[in-house]
Amino acid sequence: MNRASEFQHIKSAVSSLVFSEGDNAIVINDDSLNALKFIPDHSVSLILTDPPYHSTKKENIINDKSFGTDEEFINWMELFSIEWKRILKPNGSAFMFCSSAMESQLDVMLSKRFNILSHIVWTKPNEPGYDGWKGKMKKEALRQWYPQSERIIFFEPAEDGNLHRSYFGSLLKQIRTSCGLSGHELTERIGAFGSVNHGGAVSNWETGRNIPNREQYYKMREVFASINSTCNLPEYEDAIRPFEVNSDVEFTDIWTFPSVKPYKGKHPAEKPIDMLEHCIKATTYEGDVVLDCFAGSGSTGVAALRLNRRSISIEIDKNWCESIAQRMESIKAISQDVSIPISIIMKGTGKKQETQTLFDFACVPC
Ligand SMILES: C[S@@+](CC[C@H](N)C(=O)[O-])C[C@H]1O[C@@H](n2cnc3c(N)ncnc32)[C@H](O)[C@@H]1O
Repeated sequence: MNRASEFQHIKSAVSSLVFSEGDNAIVINDDSLNALKFIPDHSVSLILTDPPYHSTKKENIINDKSFGTDEEFINWMELFSIEWKRILKPNGSAFMFCSSAMESQLDVMLSKRFNILSHIVWTKPNEPGYDGWKGKMKKEALRQWYPQSERIIFFEPAEDGNLHRSYFGSLLKQIRTSCGLSGHELTERIGAFGSVNHGGAVSNWETGRNIPNREQYYKMREVFASINSTCNLPEYEDAIRPFEVNSDVEFTDIWTFPSVKPYKGKHPAEKPIDMLEHCIKATTYEGDVVLDCFAGSGSTGVAALRLNRRSISIEIDKNWCESIAQRMESIKAISQDVSIPISIIMKGTGKKQETQTLFDFACVPC
């Protein structure tokens, strides 16, 4: 199935829940714990999500104050993590925002099912007047270091029975051994050895230390097919977890993106689009499906569409779902030059508008 058909498959599976939709995006107004159950297995490439922090106890965020103890909150989050593991593609990735106070407990919970790859520290170098409590508060009253950063846990699905081997590493080992080749032999057949590390390339790929480039990958595919036509590696995009950074972007685990300045109608926890785009660009291929199951203002969906990805946004608060739909409309102006009309269907009204919106803003490839 190509990526366009995969998205159609998701759309059919969640059709009874849809609040608004476009060619490349779906908005669902529901409790995610229910909605996630409708999403097919291994159909999502990236989960980029920002649950209630629990520790910050914000009155204006649903479920931020619902849990009496940390344990109750972690148990609730674990129910999501079970669904995330089921719906993520084996070569998918996930980012979860959290507070520094809850990070370690969330980390232990997540590591039952995922390989934790990075603990990103997001600092917010905001201008005076936009730096929240930091500027205003009485420093002498502090009882601990002022929490100036948030955390983003970055993780991938772990292979069952082997929490530290990547999906591709396990797949490669399985196919290589069933073709009767040693790691050394396979390295030689594809010429992926250097002067120092003669047989190490394949073993590094199998242990997940690094990944083959496209050319090396397709050479391996040819070698396997020449030995046994049933030993087939999938297409590169379906096996290799994308990860692309360079020296022009934040490539360390310390990120400095200014937070969203207050404006009328701002979501209390709205995340900056440039940071969300950074997450998506580094870890997905064009056309991939990005899921945010605590969508809030819908910024993740906006970022995904701007980068020619597909998006699913789930939000429990109907007002925010309406705002996400309006946000699509407001993008209309900048998408005027896009000629393909699409339909936005608003649940409840049953009205189908032929219009140009954010949802067709992106020209998503197959
Ligand atoms: C921290 S905010 C996310 C803000 C978002 N990242 C943004 O940029 O606007 C968490 C959101 O999750 C929503 N939420 C809480 N519990 C939920 C649930 N069970 N299912 C779906 N959404 C939920 C809240 O209404 C809130 O909008």
